[in-house]
Amino acid sequence: MVTVEKNFIIKTRDVDFFYGSFRALTNITINFETKRVTALIGPSGCGKSTLLRLLNRMNDLIDGTRVEGEVLFEDRNIYAPDVDPVEVRRRIGMVFQKPNPFPKSIFNNVTFAPKLSGITTKSDLEALVEHSLKQAVLWDEVKDILNRSAMTLSGGQQQRLCIARALAMKPDVLLMDEPTSALDPISTAKIEELIDELKKYYTIIIVTHNMQQAARVSEFTGFFYIGKLIEFNATEKIFTNPDVKQTEDYITGRFG
Ligand SMILES: Nc1ncnc2c1ncn2[C@@H]1O[C@H](COP(=O)(O)OP(=O)(O)O)[C@@H](O)[C@H]1O
Ligand SMILES: [Mg+2]
Repeated sequence: MVTVEKNFIIKTRDVDFFYGSFRALTNITINFETKRVTALIGPSGCGKSTLLRLLNRMNDLIDGTRVEGEVLFEDRNIYAPDVDPVEVRRRIGMVFQKPNPFPKSIFNNVTFAPKLSGITTKSDLEALVEHSLKQAVLWDEVKDILNRSAMTLSGGQQQRLCIARALAMKPDVLLMDEPTSALDPISTAKIEELIDELKKYYTIIIVTHNMQQAARVSEFTGFFYIGKLIEFNATEKIFTNPDVKQTEDYITGRFG
């Protein structure tokens, strides 16, 4: 019998991460399955955002940081000397906790990075804007106001615009760092529905401190505690019958 190896788009191998001499992550080995949603949970300060930023080399932008071990994207170490971090970030997009649109029009928010990467034809840009905004389920709300400033949108709309902006670069992976923590419940529900739709096309890795959210949106969950991956498993298993006592204490609200 042939065993089919599961398709993991990102794999980390024994990753340690340092801010100066402070070790924020220890020995992280984790596999992210292609076109699935993986949630990273754990108490504040356990290293969730640090790990997320490691996956697309965003930590490079912070002085004095150091990575040990390997982060494989499609089996290639993204920290190898010949890898272009800009290309890594194009293929592995990111959405942050607070919506951070550019102070530009809705249209120009979506086209900003694609223009820099060489797409200049008006019709191509228009098609890209429509497609990205539709994918982010924002098109119907903004199609008549594309030239208006993104800053006039509600927080929830701004966050969906940031998702559209990331999608416009046609990434393979979308990293989301607590994408709904600044949003109201209705906007949060919209983003969660959107995640469910996007996973048909993208691999999604989401940091959340909202355990109900992790349970609702993800197939896999990793529980972190003080820089270590304590338990990684199917979300249902983590939330119903975790193997490790610390995970159970956290998900039942005994600490964190
Ligand atoms: N830029 C930084 N410089 C120094 N230490 C940092 C920096 N960012 C985060 N840390 C530290 O690294 C640890 C993990 O932080 P973080 O990844 O933000 O945790 P989480 O996202 O789980 O709340 C914390 O102890 C935090 O204080
Ligand atoms: Mg964080």
